[in-house]
Amino acid sequence: MTDKRVILSDESSGKSVELPVIQGSEGEPTLSIKGVPGELGYFTYDPGFTATASCTSTITFIDGGKGILRYRGYPIEQLAEQSTFLEVAYLLLNGELPAAAEYDEFLNDITYHTMVHEKLNTFIKGFHYDAHPMAMMAGVVGSLAAFYHEKLDMKDPAARMLAAKRMIAKMPTIAAACYRHHMGWPTSYPLNRLGFTERFLHMMFSVPAEEYEVSEVAARAFDLLFILHADHEQNASTSTVRLVGSTGANPYACVAAGISALWGPAHGGANEAVLNMLEQIGSVANIPKFVEKAKDRDDPFRLMGFGHRVYRNYDPRASIIRDAAHEVLNELGTSDPLMELAMELEQVALKDEYFIEKKLYPNVDFYSGIIYKALGIPKSMFTVMFAIARTVGWVAHWLEHCDNPTPIGRPRQVYSGPAERKYVPLSQRD
Ligand code: CMC
Repeated sequence: MTDKRVILSDESSGKSVELPVIQGSEGEPTLSIKGVPGELGYFTYDPGFTATASCTSTITFIDGGKGILRYRGYPIEQLAEQSTFLEVAYLLLNGELPAAAEYDEFLNDITYHTMVHEKLNTFIKGFHYDAHPMAMMAGVVGSLAAFYHEKLDMKDPAARMLAAKRMIAKMPTIAAACYRHHMGWPTSYPLNRLGFTERFLHMMFSVPAEEYEVSEVAARAFDLLFILHADHEQNASTSTVRLVGSTGANPYACVAAGISALWGPAHGGANEAVLNMLEQIGSVANIPKFVEKAKDRDDPFRLMGFGHRVYRNYDPRASIIRDAAHEVLNELGTSDPLMELAMELEQVALKDEYFIEKKLYPNVDFYSGIIYKALGIPKSMFTVMFAIARTVGWVAHWLEHCDNPTPIGRPRQVYSGPAERKYVPLSQRD
């Protein structure tokens, strides 16, 4: 809170209210509007929360105008270059980078919780083989509440941290199990001598008939992608987790809700949608036609992987991922015509007046699918990769909410339906 006040006056009633200005450690000043309904008798209207902060948070800072993203104060570029996913996970959960002994203990905790109850594998086998993996993930993660609910004392910070670690540890195991069910492969168990990303790739791709050695290139690329996707402050899925958490729901239920929110093509589902779009465009010659479609208000087509609610500049994650995509393709000694297509599409859009004027730039999802594809991840699993990484952000925000709870999330509405009317019995209706 600052000493600054903004006075909001209602000329018709002659009433006014002083609105305190909150200033975070960084970012824009924010008006606290809590007093408005009580003092002036109005609610405030902000569909899609485009102008409303729903909480205070110490986890992630974004300056969308400047294209800045920091986790707990550390620039994403530095973390991407020098850290590892699990170190970033520790940072997001605890607020500080770990000392060596703390890091060892954390790695140990995450490794210790990688297995899932065998009945969960039976549950997964109940899905049809071609169920979308995000639908399976939402169902299976929600069902964790049925396995761990009784033992979770939500008032105990240590129990809450344990639930958070369990979720980070089990998510790759569940993701791989969903994929293997689709492929018709037998269950693969976590090999705890491997690191987090190696273990995940091993669970995804190893088959009993052959030796499987995890590619270093793949493990490094996944670690980087997981770091970049780990948190992004109050995005739709994280806000969902916080909202569900505000009801006191079990954390597994909160994360299952986050997975559902992430699945949409306007959010994490965009990485799958980008690849579908690139395939649909097909060749560089078709780019102008699709750019025109994206600009046409009467055409629902949008450039997937472009635009962002917060960034009005290049998404810093997109440029890191674009460079990584080049590196991965080079190291694998392959090329992908979709990469050439994506780069050309980016160039055309960035020079187009429509995209310049609306400040639409490539976002995190624009190039990530090209890396996943090069590393053998099928399109339907792209958003699951996002979910594995974002689980860290979801549980970090859930923990923060539990430590410093907001009231139950309960927005108001502007009712625009019929005024009161009298019920007409069926026999008297025309
Ligand atoms: N292609 C064409 N036009 C666009 C696009 C796009 N990708 N994105 C926004 N616009 C236009 C939009 O039509 C609107 O035009 P007008 O002012 O004339 O009505 C204007 O730009 C503002 O768009 P908006 O939808 O009001 O902006 P928003 O902040 O509500 O939406 C967004 C942000 C990410 C949902 C949107 O940019 C979009 O749909 N992008 C494509 C999907 C995508 O890549 N999503 C991933 C987001 S980043 C990762 C994540 O969140 O998981």
